[in-house]
Amino acid sequence: MIQAPGGPTSTHRALGAHAALIEAVVRSGGLRFDALWELALYEPGIGFYETGGAAGRRADFLTSVELGPLFGACIARRVDQAWNAAGRPDTWTLVDAGAGPGTLVRAVLAAQPECVGALEVVLVERSARQRAGHADLIGWAADREVAVRSQAGLPEGVAGVIVANELLDNLPARVVQRHGGQVQELWVAPGGVAPAFERPGIPAAGSELELTWRPMVGDDAAALAACEWWDNVPDDAPVPWSAGAAEWVAEAQRRLALGILVVVDYGARTSAEVAGRDGWLRTYAQGAVGTDPLENLGGRDLTTDVPFDQLPQPDRLVTQADALACWGIDQLVAAASARLAARPDAALDLARARDISLLNEAPTLVDSAGLGAFLVAEWGAGG
Ligand SMILES: C[S@@+](CC[C@H](N)C(=O)[O-])C[C@H]1O[C@@H](n2cnc3c(N)ncnc32)[C@H](O)[C@@H]1O
Repeated sequence: MIQAPGGPTSTHRALGAHAALIEAVVRSGGLRFDALWELALYEPGIGFYETGGAAGRRADFLTSVELGPLFGACIARRVDQAWNAAGRPDTWTLVDAGAGPGTLVRAVLAAQPECVGALEVVLVERSARQRAGHADLIGWAADREVAVRSQAGLPEGVAGVIVANELLDNLPARVVQRHGGQVQELWVAPGGVAPAFERPGIPAAGSELELTWRPMVGDDAAALAACEWWDNVPDDAPVPWSAGAAEWVAEAQRRLALGILVVVDYGARTSAEVAGRDGWLRTYAQGAVGTDPLENLGGRDLTTDVPFDQLPQPDRLVTQADALACWGIDQLVAAASARLAARPDAALDLARARDISLLNEAPTLVDSAGLGAFLVAEWGAGG
């Protein structure tokens, strides 16, 4: 984690960092932290998501989606609610933005939403490596007569629901702080000792990268000063400046012709609250959480708590526990429970295993000390 309250400089040996990332920093003389973050997650052949990193039970981190079928069943309810509110149009699109392996869509379709006859699905995933894994799901959905396509960017003119679960936390953020009367930004620079290159492109063992605070000046400083949330962030409290997440929400809302945009993520209602937390900048790999953003760069997910007050003002902002209640989690659990009670001695078939899973997942999804405290923001069309 960045030292907070932040001294001007903290040095890390970039243990296990991908050589190409160290080289990118060395050759440029220093990269703004968000630029290195971008490379570390998404650079083809190097970044975490382009070299096999993913959500999943046997993968690097677990999301509500990967826990089991219940979250997707609740999203199916939300998709139906929006379809009914729109007057049940003949075509209704579900866009899963930051789809990862596509597990959410599988769960939505398995929940048999009322709108299924009108439904078409778009998986939006920027990682080519993960998109390559969508073929199975597309075939499975075709057997259920639902058209699913997979692409890198958001479609235009969406009439339906765009959902982004744990996407915004993965959009590289800038990191800023006030320190000693100065506004500073986090950069990554070559360490004090210039790394020796044993062979071109291969930094010698022991090459160092250094997290460094640099003064922020000019247009950037003016843009930050104009942000209302910035006024409330205390001195010496580094905070993510999630301009990329705000732009993504504005763009997604612009692409929505009818329906809703639903964003689910960890974070806080205010930037000041994020700044006051320990470990708002985290890494994940094979289920283990880390707090040194430079450790094993390229080999770990890098993620931030999302400061929701930096996003366009939503129409609704509630906790995941409250959102799931509105989307019918209690009824889904009660129905599963009733089905199990009606067949107490039945053999364990797929339907029964699914119902047992629904019952087991519910407490975790609404846990106020965990997933239940995630925030859910919704925007209507026409941003
Ligand atoms: C933390 S994973 C979440 C996966 C899935 N939504 C879930 O909840 O299990 C975030 C995913 O978003 C993808 N991603 C990041 N930026 C994106 C963008 N601008 N558009 C589409 N996908 C993006 C990443 O490649 C990654 O697969």
